[in-house]
Amino acid sequence: MSEPVRIVLLGPPGAGKGTQAYRLATRYDVPLISTGDIFRRNVEEQSELGLEARQYMEAGELVPDDVVVGMVTAAIDEANGQHTGFILDGFPRTIRQAELLEEHTVEGGFPITAALAFMVSDELAVKRVAGRRTCAICQRPYNVELSPPREEAVCDRCGGRLIQREDDREETVRHRLDVYHAQTQPLLEFYEERRILHELDADAAVDEVTNCAVATIERVTAGAPGAR
Ligand code: AP5
Repeated sequence: MSEPVRIVLLGPPGAGKGTQAYRLATRYDVPLISTGDIFRRNVEEQSELGLEARQYMEAGELVPDDVVVGMVTAAIDEANGQHTGFILDGFPRTIRQAELLEEHTVEGGFPITAALAFMVSDELAVKRVAGRRTCAICQRPYNVELSPPREEAVCDRCGGRLIQREDDREETVRHRLDVYHAQTQPLLEFYEERRILHELDADAAVDEVTNCAVATIERVTAGAPGAR
């Protein structure tokens, strides 16, 4: 590979960003920075950040940009100290976040190499999120119908307890989808204009989506002609 894996994952709730982020970060051995996971850990620890984020998360709203951006740029800088890449799951989510991310990474000499957009219908997204269970320890996602753990309610990876997220109630999920369409979907055009957007069919099975994401990353990082 000639280009480092510095990738942004976009898509509505339930698109499978978290599922694919974990697989891709493992495959390419780069740090995974998931804003949702960072916030959930802070909520659990009842830190100042967690107390602030909680009210927005439970309502299905976005945490304000000024709270998120500093947190993510610090995590990117830390990742860059030890690795040549990173995967961002759930960030950026607004045009302002994308602009600040661009400023930080271009100035630092480590620009984003690709934005992968996981495309899925709202109805399938709601179905997936309603069945989602997440490991209380390592945050790995499962689905009671679509991708159950080997042992009921127990994480295959670390043996942690599987729990349902507070914001996965159907009415909150539908609101999160509205927020996605209003505030995050415009990022597709933002990255299209920069010619680094790659849309993937996320209705497909998990392995199929991973294969498409890997094929895209290999093309991009190899700098192959017609990489888009
Ligand atoms: P966050 O945790 O990022 O939630 P989200 O973006 O709403 O995404 P989800 O985690 O719901 O879905 P996903 O796409 O990761 O799907 P998953 O892989 O889990 O953010 C939560 C909250 O934090 C936000 O609402 C906001 O308040 C705050 N926040 C976070 N980032 C922020 C930011 N940058 N700015 C401001 N606020 C921010 O899959 C879902 C289910 O489907 C699972 O059960 C999985 O097993 C299953 N599944 C996945 N793929 C497939 C497949 N291909 N086939 C079948 N099943 C599948």
